[in-house]
Amino acid sequence: MDIRTKSVHTGIYKDKSYNSVTTPLYPSSTFYFDALGKNKGYDYTRSGNPTRAALEENIASLEGGIGCSATATGMAAITAALFLCKAGDHIVTGDDIYGGTYRLFSQVFPQMGLSFSFVNMRDLKKVKAAITSKTKMIWIETPSNPLLNIVDLGAVIKLAKAKKILTAVDNTFLSPYFQKPFEFGADLVIHSTTKYLNGHSDVVGGAIVYNNKSIGERVRYLVNALGVSESPFDSWLVLRGVKTLSQRMEAHQANALTIAKFLEGHKHVKKVYYPGLVSHPQQDLIRKQMKGFGGMLAFELDTKKVDLNKFFKRLKLFCLAESLGGVESLIEHPWSMSHSSMGIAGLKASGITQQTIRVSVGIEGHADLINDLAGALLGSR
Ligand SMILES: Cc1ncc(COP(=O)(O)O)c(C=O)c1O
Repeated sequence: MDIRTKSVHTGIYKDKSYNSVTTPLYPSSTFYFDALGKNKGYDYTRSGNPTRAALEENIASLEGGIGCSATATGMAAITAALFLCKAGDHIVTGDDIYGGTYRLFSQVFPQMGLSFSFVNMRDLKKVKAAITSKTKMIWIETPSNPLLNIVDLGAVIKLAKAKKILTAVDNTFLSPYFQKPFEFGADLVIHSTTKYLNGHSDVVGGAIVYNNKSIGERVRYLVNALGVSESPFDSWLVLRGVKTLSQRMEAHQANALTIAKFLEGHKHVKKVYYPGLVSHPQQDLIRKQMKGFGGMLAFELDTKKVDLNKFFKRLKLFCLAESLGGVESLIEHPWSMSHSSMGIAGLKASGITQQTIRVSVGIEGHADLINDLAGALLGSR
């Protein structure tokens, strides 16, 4: 089935009592037994909940996986996935990943005996060189946040498979509408559903999607044991949001392409990062593994011409806010906001500068968005 059909129908029809067309919300924390050992498939909401199960079925089908665990946040999904590793294991990842993931990998898990190598994952030789006999997992984020660098999924996953290393792909930026990591052999697909899958900036959530039974069983065990599953209400909201994923992604992308071109031609903008621009240096790879370019872009402001603070202050439609993937356009400063937890050295290694601005392009009218940016980009510091 077409992804547009799956997002509307898969997992939805759970109401056998009244045949409601949308999935009922079951906030109950617990479910009674008919007799010892006999219930209707659910006993306690941390372990399983019918509303959450509907969402999990839906997301798994969109990604082409066999199952999914919906988690309380994207970071909860990443945390649970990392528990597939044990003390002594080593993980290879990118040096330009989301700041919160970088913080978890550099500050938290090392205290528990995991070690990490942060490398430029566009360079396969660097990935290869970072692998040791202890490497258990390769963590991929593509396109990267916020500079939209692309990692070659086919090549990195092939390398990992040859060495029996697990691969996890954070697919938050493109969503399954524009990228399907399982088609390249990934073991896990991770989402912050806070972003495009929900799409309305009114939930935090995450997902771990798997396509192997034994990995799936372990993931489900860990999500329950760690207590990081998504609440029924938040699951219900994400399930509502996901139904319009395809239409929103098309609208985000159309606006992002128009804005990226506008910014690229603006004399106060030094550089634009967007996979849909021919100036993006990884054209062949983009066409090979992505079905679209998405709605995220970043650019370097010429702060000799435009004052950074004044730029943000002048904007009327773009909200100065972290997060991304909602219907409204958001703009932010990775150096001091989303990626500040990387520290100066980490920021510099990733290529983020004090002039880098990240934009989550919403679905508003593109002319209004361009007018807003044009006004904020006027010269005069
Ligand atoms: C690519 C990516 N992965 C994971 C996360 C973490 O998600 P959450 O904020 O839902 O915990 C984010 C958050 O911005 C993100 O951008």
